[in-house]
Amino acid sequence: MDTVLSFIDSQQGRYLTELNELLAIPSVSSQESHKPDMARAAQWLSEHMTRIGMEHVAIMETGGHPLIYGDWLHAPGKPTVLVYGHYDVQPEEPVELWHSPPFTGTVRDGRLYARGTADDKGQVFIHLKAIEALLRQKSALPINVKMIVEGEEEVGSDHLGAFVEDHKDLLKADLVVISDSGMFEKGVPSLTYGLRGLTYMEVELTGPNSDLHSGSYGGSLHNPIQALTEMIASLHDRNGKVTVKGFYDDVQALTAVERKSFAKLPWSDRAYAKRLGLKTLYGEKGFTTLERLWARPTLECNGIWGGYTGQGAKTVLPAKAFAKISMRLVPHQSSKKIAKLFAHHLKRIAPKTVTVEVRELHGGEPAITPIDSAGVKAAIAALEKGFGKKPLYQREGGSIPIVVDFKKRLGLDTVLLGFGLPDENAHAPDEFIDLENFYGGIRTVVHFMNELPGYWPSSRKR
Ligand code: BES
Ligand code: MN
Ligand code: MN
Repeated sequence: MDTVLSFIDSQQGRYLTELNELLAIPSVSSQESHKPDMARAAQWLSEHMTRIGMEHVAIMETGGHPLIYGDWLHAPGKPTVLVYGHYDVQPEEPVELWHSPPFTGTVRDGRLYARGTADDKGQVFIHLKAIEALLRQKSALPINVKMIVEGEEEVGSDHLGAFVEDHKDLLKADLVVISDSGMFEKGVPSLTYGLRGLTYMEVELTGPNSDLHSGSYGGSLHNPIQALTEMIASLHDRNGKVTVKGFYDDVQALTAVERKSFAKLPWSDRAYAKRLGLKTLYGEKGFTTLERLWARPTLECNGIWGGYTGQGAKTVLPAKAFAKISMRLVPHQSSKKIAKLFAHHLKRIAPKTVTVEVRELHGGEPAITPIDSAGVKAAIAALEKGFGKKPLYQREGGSIPIVVDFKKRLGLDTVLLGFGLPDENAHAPDEFIDLENFYGGIRTVVHFMNELPGYWPSSRKR
């Protein structure tokens, strides 16, 4: 192992140069204009995977943005890990708030800044470099590895479920490993065992059949913006609870054991509020902040628009008003069911003065992964070796919808091995990956591959 680890230490400069090539490709999956960049990023990854010694590397069509597959399968009798990640990124806007160009990897204060550093190109690259280090120094991996890197995670992984279903043999494995989440805080390696689900809705309210002069017509009708904000304001009660009828029906209650384990984590509401520039926090009464973030469902307005928002004043009553509203879900809520409840609720509370249309944009199911599996045990051991500290167990508030598909379609549990940080600015200006986490991540993945056979039932000596 030592030769592999010292090789990793000696390659830090090269790692950054290489990763910067991938970061320079603006693979924004949501914007049509970046379609050629999606192809370029896929090409870059496939060439890189081949160069480090992976086999059967292929750019595969999904019906949407392509996906890259590669494997290394020369460890007979040893477990097979399916590594999943994504090369698509969120838009860089608002670009003026970045302190260095979003698609130029830039090191400042021990961090590498650029869109996709943490979410998720940097974390995909961690796996590639771990594989490369082992193949260069040992000419073999201790386990079998299959890897898929998709290009549609940030837009809901619309085609991936069907792809997995159609490629069950190709993707046959013993467990899934995903590095697309974070650690509890810097210096605290963490094993994530829960993700929230998501239901994303768009609401369109229509009042009069055209925009109207607000002097000639104001006072005679219900402004759709007013109606919409009244409706949105009613979606939470005084206790911060969501009022959508039936919203909490399927929510799995927190157990006393889990509440206790959350409460033991090194957390300060004050420090958290301070980091966010807030005087005080807000949320559902009766739950701690970590409980609200990880184990309680939420409803959030992501955007709201209508009427005149250009320069200066325009006296107008808009014909329409819109909102984008998403809900984070927890076990055992169902994304489809919540979408229905939401649409029904909005129709029910809409005043007669307007008509309301509700559309579902995308969704994904919440996931809890078992923490007593061989994969998790190996991950815990690997994190401790990689970061020199015992990891803690945590859940996350974000969503990786494909985790549930891997379980349902391939029967596989997922190990979430995240190397991001809570303040990494994912989806925001100045996204970064902490370089200690980056190099620690490479070491951890090497240790993970090395540890796994020892924990794996079928390959364990009796
Ligand atoms: N990497 C994130 C998911 C994530 C975020 C996991 C924070 C753990 C902590 C992923 O790329 C993401 O952004 N997912 C989307 C969901 C998707 C359906 C658009 C999300 O959570 O909003
Ligand atoms: Mn991600
Ligand atoms: Mn993301």
